[in-house]
Amino acid sequence: MNDHEALIHLKDVRKAYQTPAGDFLALRGIDLQVQTGEFLAVVGKSGAGKSTLVNMVTGIDRPSSGEIRVGAQAIQNMSEDQVATWRGKHVGVVFQFFQLLPMLTCAQNVMMPMDFAGLYSSPRERRQRALLLLEQVGIAEHADKLPSAVSGGQRQRVAIARALANDPMLLAADEPTGNLDSKTANAMFEVFERLVDEGKTMLLVTHDRDLAARATRRVHIADGEIVDGK
Ligand SMILES: Nc1ncnc2c1ncn2[C@@H]1O[C@H](COP(=O)(O)OP(=O)(O)O)[C@@H](O)[C@H]1O
Ligand SMILES: [Mg+2]
Repeated sequence: MNDHEALIHLKDVRKAYQTPAGDFLALRGIDLQVQTGEFLAVVGKSGAGKSTLVNMVTGIDRPSSGEIRVGAQAIQNMSEDQVATWRGKHVGVVFQFFQLLPMLTCAQNVMMPMDFAGLYSSPRERRQRALLLLEQVGIAEHADKLPSAVSGGQRQRVAIARALANDPMLLAADEPTGNLDSKTANAMFEVFERLVDEGKTMLLVTHDRDLAARATRRVHIADGEIVDGK
């Protein structure tokens, strides 16, 4: 496998958190490559470093040392502003607790990243695109409701539509089904599978062994290291 063809490339990534008891090494030298179009499941116990790893790849947080490249971008060299702009255009992130803005409708939540990145110019175009994305995740009929008026599974669909707002190459989801019943979790997984079929690259942190088994590849993290699946 050629290094230069990987969409995600991590080299000796370390992350230390400062704690009152001293530095805590949450990632201890991660080497990882993910190819375009892969559906990668990240598994491991609570506290293993899964979220920290995802936050490195998405630029939500920074490594203490090491190299992170996503597409053509070396993330560790970018400023905060540059990372935020880059992420807004190229990465979609889905969280366990949805993190929708409660005062905005579902459609407005989906339009937010478009407003931020300025990729879709007119408000009319943004709304059309939000409706299309909500339709793709099966909840167009709830577009003008507030998040509080729809179910947890529906909120997560809105969050997925929001993550897709700017048509990112990479979608990262950190335990997106952790708060959903198994039937809804399965439906969510099927949405991710379809997105991978359509050419997205998917990074899914999950505790669910059955779902992880259905990804195209798994990496197992323990105590800040990849112990299997590199
Ligand atoms: N901001 C932080 N400050 C200090 N320690 C942290 C911080 N975030 C995470 N940790 C610690 O780093 C380790 C890995 O955390 P995390 O990546 O959230 O694990 P996971 O997502 O696998 O449950 C855990 O021991 C956690 O307590
Ligand atoms: Mg986590």
